[in-house]
Parts: sequence; structure tokens; C-alpha cells
Amino acid sequence: MAEMWSWKSGVKHKYSKAERTILETLERDLSKHMEKSKPGRYAHSLSVARTAEQMALAYDVDPFCALAAGVLHDWDKVLSREQQIEKAKEYRIDLGVSYDLVQPLLHGMTAAASLREVYPKLPTQVWQAIARHTLGAADMTPLDMVVFVADGIEPRRKSVPAIVATRTLVEEHAKLDDIYWSSFYQGVAYVVETQRYLYPGTLDIYNELVLARKR
Ligand SMILES: [Fe+2]
Repeated sequence: MAEMWSWKSGVKHKYSKAERTILETLERDLSKHMEKSKPGRYAHSLSVARTAEQMALAYDVDPFCALAAGVLHDWDKVLSREQQIEKAKEYRIDLGVSYDLVQPLLHGMTAAASLREVYPKLPTQVWQAIARHTLGAADMTPLDMVVFVADGIEPRRKSVPAIVATRTLVEEHAKLDDIYWSSFYQGVAYVVETQRYLYPGTLDIYNELVLARKR
């Protein structure tokens, strides 16, 4: 078996009792929500949470928010394609094109919209990071970037060249903006290489990032 990538900042963080209680609740709820029905997705979610936490500690981002967002980011992946689209309609999430075309982008936004009602104690930045983990944005916060990147590089992901390139940047402690850019544009490149539909909003973000990086 190929060796699993593992990266750790080596920094340990002591969470407050209140934070620990919330994180334990989230992990228990995630387990109830998908451990049996989607064991791979469950393992991925925990792995993203751990990777996001380690990146947060290395980049001076709140590790509690990174962990919470990582645990919950794929909550709506237990829903079918149709259910995800129904939920997006219910929460008035409209990307301006047919739902069918952007269905894979919806689960982050629907999860953020519905879970904020379930966990009102979690800070709002957690919901933004979850909402943005599929599509990205041109004005990502450090937390948004940590969650987005962690989703793409967590150790359970196959070590394909694009992922290895982003992991290497993380290991080298490159700038978070550069790591996010690497992860984002390689995602765009993948969509083009596999000749899939590229959402115009993604292209807008790509262009905005290209111009911002030239400034
Ligand atoms: Fe994910």
C-alpha cells in the first residue's frame, strides 16, 4: 500500500472546556449522521478536520473554527443529488445557472445554511468556511483557505501530482494565499482536463485571483 501522506505542524493546542464540549458534540453528531451510511465520507470529514486544525495552528488561524468546519463541511453529502438540489431551492441558494449543472457545488452552501440553525453557538466564520469549501471565493479569509485546502489534501486523498504539489507547499510553509491558489487553480485545471462543465462563477473567481496576484 502506498504510504499515506501525513503532515503535522507539531504544535499542540489546548482547547477550553466549552470548546471541547462543542467539538465532542459535533463529532458525535457526525458519527450518528454518516458513520454507518457513508463510512468513507465520515473518515474523510474527520481527516479534513484534523488537517485543517494542523494548518490553522501553523497559520495563526483559530483551530477550534477549523476543526468545527472540517467536521461539518460535507454534512449534506449524505443526501442524493436530487435532495441536494431540493435543499438548495429550499434555502434559496441560486447560482444563476441550472441546478443540475452546479449540483456538486451546493452541499457546502446548504450545510452552512441549515447547520447554523442547529448549532447557533458556533461562530459565523465557521459557516462561511463551510459554504465556500466547494466553490472558493476571490476574497477568502485565512480560515476559509485552511478549510478549502485541507479538503483537497487530507491524507486519505490519493497522491496525484496536483495534490502532492499543494502538500509540498504546506510542508514548506509557503504563504497561505499561494497554497490556496495552488489548490484552486489545480481544481479548475482538473475540470478542464476532464472536459466537465466549468461554472462561470468559478472562472470569475479564477480571473479575479489572477489579477489580484499580479498586483
Ligand atoms: Fe470534503
